[in-house]
Amino acid sequence: MRFHILTIFPEMFSGFLSCSIIGRAVEKGLISVELVNIRDYSESKHRNTDDYPFGGGAGMLMMAQPIASAIKAVKASVGDDGIPVIYLSPKGTVFRQAVAQSISAYSDVILLCGHYEGIDQRVIDKYVDMELSIGDYVLTGGEVAAMVVIDSVSRLIPGTLGSSQSAIDESFSDNNLEYPQYTRPRVFEGMAVPDVLLNGNHAEILKWRTEQSKALTMLRRPDLIGRDTVLKGDEQA
Ligand code: 6GU
Repeated sequence: MRFHILTIFPEMFSGFLSCSIIGRAVEKGLISVELVNIRDYSESKHRNTDDYPFGGGAGMLMMAQPIASAIKAVKASVGDDGIPVIYLSPKGTVFRQAVAQSISAYSDVILLCGHYEGIDQRVIDKYVDMELSIGDYVLTGGEVAAMVVIDSVSRLIPGTLGSSQSAIDESFSDNNLEYPQYTRPRVFEGMAVPDVLLNGNHAEILKWRTEQSKALTMLRRPDLIGRDTVLKGDEQA
């Protein structure tokens, strides 16, 4: 899968793309990331990407022209006018596991990162297929949100995770929170690992984990109960 990131701060992605599971996925060729500097497409004198908003108000807006040109260039280089353009924005649909699942089906996707007070509405109207928010808080720009999307989508691509890690994903995709886990030592600062995990009875262990998982979900995220699983579709509950 190829991610085409449109940003005025491409440097923000370097650590993220070279480390850990995402770094390995890039190395293995399971994903690739093209960083497109929007500034390179500006046709204004000083390669500006922002301007004052009509009607006044605080802050600057990203101009339509550099963004539209960058989108058109990516679509032309891929040779597909239909690749989805996702604009990371606090006004967007809330990003969830089901949305990650549906994005992972595409071979190419354009992630547009905004800055300042946002972007000219005409770019959104004409070129953006989906606006995505990563939650109810405000970020300084879309780059961190784009990394969240890339991270969660990439781990769904076969080969990105080891087989033991994908098994964990299965227990997550039923909309329950993960049960507590323990490793050595058996006693840490006076706290012992629950006995049930030490007796080797796998049926009992599974039962305990399921109960823990349900109780934790009830306590902390009752809103998840009864929501469609990610496997059924990407509609928002
Ligand atoms: Cl995608 N962008 C910005 N600027 N703020 C956000 C967001 C995105 N999602 C939540 N807050």
